[in-house]
Amino acid sequence: MATDYEKQSYWHDRFASETSFEWLVTSKHHILHLGSGTSDLHNHFRSRGLLNVTNLDFEPLAAERGRDLEQNAFGDVRMNYVVADATRLVDEPIMIGSHGGAAGKEEQIVTPAKFDLVVDKSTADAVAFLELPFHVEVMAKVPTRKVKPTDPDIYHWCFILRPM
Ligand SMILES: C[S@@+](CC[C@H](N)C(=O)[O-])C[C@H]1O[C@@H](n2cnc3c(N)ncnc32)[C@H](O)[C@@H]1O
Repeated sequence: MATDYEKQSYWHDRFASETSFEWLVTSKHHILHLGSGTSDLHNHFRSRGLLNVTNLDFEPLAAERGRDLEQNAFGDVRMNYVVADATRLVDEPIMIGSHGGAAGKEEQIVTPAKFDLVVDKSTADAVAFLELPFHVEVMAKVPTRKVKPTDPDIYHWCFILRPM
């Protein structure tokens, strides 16, 4: 029988006994945090028990700052820190583990499809500022294959660039 998620009565009955539950992200899920910068958002993940976090930035100082922020807040470094270009992850999968900052973890190659949740806070904005000296015409927008139905919509774009 289908669950009555659309009915208020279902939620009322459920919340009568349920005091706390996360639907989409639990400690076993792997989070990719794009353009982590010097933000302490990753520490908020960790303080909620989410340790399986890979903080990625193309600026090495961001990884250093991120590690320092975690060390200062928790006394150790258990999340991953990766220096990589977020716009090239499909072509160049990232390596996390012993080089990623989390001591004792086995090294593994990670592609974007391996993550359960990708978080971006203001990095898309930064990338969107790229100004190209071309007139851009969109030729095609092709969806990539999903491994799981919950995977995000990712497209291969095909442009014609004509010099301005
Ligand atoms: C506006 S800051 C946001 C930092 C942080 N997320 C926050 O909310 O405070 C943009 C960040 O994205 C990073 N960034 C920009 N383009 C990137 C790219 N192509 N790949 C990885 N990181 C990138 C920058 O180094 C910077 O840390």
